[in-house]
Parts: sequence; C-alpha cells; structure tokens
Amino acid sequence: MNIISRTTELDKHLIKPYLKKDSITVDMTAGNGNDTLFLALNSKKVYAFDIQQVAIEKTEELLKENCLDNYELICDCHSKIDNYINESIDVFIFNFGYLPKADKIITTIAETSLKALEKTLELLKINGLICMTLYHGHKNGEIERREILSYVEKLDFSKYYVLYIMPINQKNCPPEMVLITKRK
Ligand SMILES: C[S@@+](CC[C@H](N)C(=O)[O-])C[C@H]1O[C@@H](n2cnc3c(N)ncnc32)[C@H](O)[C@@H]1O
Repeated sequence: MNIISRTTELDKHLIKPYLKKDSITVDMTAGNGNDTLFLALNSKKVYAFDIQQVAIEKTEELLKENCLDNYELICDCHSKIDNYINESIDVFIFNFGYLPKADKIITTIAETSLKALEKTLELLKINGLICMTLYHGHKNGEIERREILSYVEKLDFSKYYVLYIMPINQKNCPPEMVLITKRK
C-alpha cells in the first residue's frame, strides 16, 4: 500500500500511535462508517456523528458486520457535540465533505465545522490528536478549507501543535490534512 498517495490510508497510519486499548474516540463525520470502524477496532469506545440517518444506518451495519458493540452513533450536527459528550477524548477524526454515492448537496460547511472544531479542542486530552481531511474540490469545501486553515494557524503555539499536509504537484484539488495535538 502506497500510503502517501491515499489520505484515507495516511490518516490511519498517523492516528494509530495515538490509540490505546482504553482510548475514547470520536468520528465527527461517520459517512459510510469506515473511520468509525477503524476507531472502534482500535479503542475502548467510539462516538460517531452524522446529520444523515442513512449514514448512521450504514455505519451501524458495518460495525455489526464486524461484531463490534463499543460504539454510540448520534444522528445530529457535530457542532452540538457538547450536548452528548462530557468526557476527555484521545482522538477525533473529521473527514469533511459529502457522503460518497449520496446527495452531494449535503456537505459539511465552514460555520458548523468551525463550531465543532472549537468544541473538540476543549474536549481533547493533552497529547491527544485531531485529524482533519479537507476536500476542497467543491464550493463548500473550498470555503471550509480556507476558514479552517485561517483558524488553526492562529491557535496558541504554546498550547497546540498544528501540522498541515498538502500535495503540491497534483491536479484537481487533492485532499489536504490538518493534524492538531494539545501540548498542555
Ligand atoms: C466524506 S463523508 C465521511 C466519510 C466517513 N468518515 C467514512 O469513513 O466513510 C462526510 C459526512 O459528513 C456528514 N456531515 C455533513 N455535515 C455534518 C454535520 N454538520 N455534522 C455531522 N456530520 C455531517 C455527511 O452527511 C457525510 O456523511
């Protein structure tokens, strides 16, 4: 597997060292459930959010197929995370954009993505990780990418370490990644 050319593989390699048997994790955009499955297989419990019931159902199906029961699926906007979670979190995954093979009109948008990110920064454990993949080949994604980057580059450097991964010789707006860890 050539991990650097596939963000869906690269993110897992970067996240894995942050996961332990007792980790509590959150998939902020469940979609088809692939990231939720990865987190469920590698942590004590995973919470997963999606605004679309169909995504929650697909995710549940995938988790059940894998005989897992260490999950809580929440059909609501991730910006309301504080209504559902009040414990510290080891790893958050945001895979922005729209549900593949579904209605492309329903995408993550800058306003709620930023609200959700602010709340995850509060819930994140020291030395925990937030991993975000930005898809900016569509209008909402382009605005979202701009606003997220502008927000994270201003985070207090003494409290957070922010890494930005961007392919620089590709066509058609390839996905980019932002990783954040909390230092204190
Ligand atoms: C690119 S997909 C996620 C892919 C997924 N992580 C996977 O492994 O298959 C993005 C998902 O974000 C969901 N979404 C959009 N806006 C959201 C919001 N405000 N809160 C939670 N989920 C949202 C969409 O419904 C879509 O299923």
